[in-house]
Amino acid sequence: MDDIKGLSGNAKLAGVIGWPVGHSLSPRLHGYWLRSYGIDGAYVPLPVSPENLELALRALPMLGFVGVNITVPHKQAALAAVDDADDNARRVGAVNTVIVEADGRLIGRNTDGFGFIENLRSGAADWRAEAGPAVVLGAGGAARAVCAALLDAGVPEVRLLNRTRERADSLAAEIGGAIRIIDWDEPASAMPEAGLLVNTTTLGMLGKPPLEIDLSPLPESALVTDIVYAPLQTPLLAQAEARRLSTVGGLGMLLHQARPGFAAWFGRQPEVTEALADYVRAGLGSG
Ligand code: ATR
Repeated sequence: MDDIKGLSGNAKLAGVIGWPVGHSLSPRLHGYWLRSYGIDGAYVPLPVSPENLELALRALPMLGFVGVNITVPHKQAALAAVDDADDNARRVGAVNTVIVEADGRLIGRNTDGFGFIENLRSGAADWRAEAGPAVVLGAGGAARAVCAALLDAGVPEVRLLNRTRERADSLAAEIGGAIRIIDWDEPASAMPEAGLLVNTTTLGMLGKPPLEIDLSPLPESALVTDIVYAPLQTPLLAQAEARRLSTVGGLGMLLHQARPGFAAWFGRQPEVTEALADYVRAGLGSG
């Protein structure tokens, strides 16, 4: 890391658009890869308010950007603003990665589901999608990407629980496939035979209440994962570990979802390593 090359006039430019964007770990993550691979490129935070999103996206080709990530609160609006989006982004209804093509067209993708599945596969090598139903808690934007990815990966059924049931109903209608809605107040009825339990709600995040759930009806073989990564060990993961269930934390989803964008923009497939995870972890909470 000491051997930092300066940028040339030909440096490729990418970044992350959010509002606010100061909490984003993506500049740290992509910056690590750029330096590790000695790439002539930069990845910068781009604070853009909602009323300026479209203008900012339209400016990217004019400024020579190769692409951007999109984060809160812009992921859905970005889908409407790009020139074209892949099937997965359309199905999920949100864009987290924009690629600027040579002719200036903006192509939207959603790599959150890819990041989610890759994180499970690398954190729990013996997890098999086909092995049993997946219990998904939450029906927000993150849940849409997670449910679509789980069904594509081959889970026989998604059992979806959300405080506001209508949101779960619309998620199921829009994503399609084997999604069964279960009452938020009856999580125990969703757990028998499950191979996986996922928290996609904001419960358990720093500053938010914990997710109150009793994991005892889960089979011993079930894997528990949380997409929350601040704190790294959520109360849900702590409870699962106390019950000797396998767990996978949420930080890896952030690391893996970044891979396709980096590869498209900078022409190199980046690797998620322990050293990278340590470096990004060290940026948690530092703003
Ligand atoms: P994201 O895009 O990160 O998924 P979101 O769309 O705001 O964020 O979704 C947040 C999720 O956390 C939703 O499933 C939300 O439930 P509701 O649809 O009922 O709002 C869930 N959530 C947030 N606070 C919650 C709470 N106190 N109890 C239960 N669920 C909660």
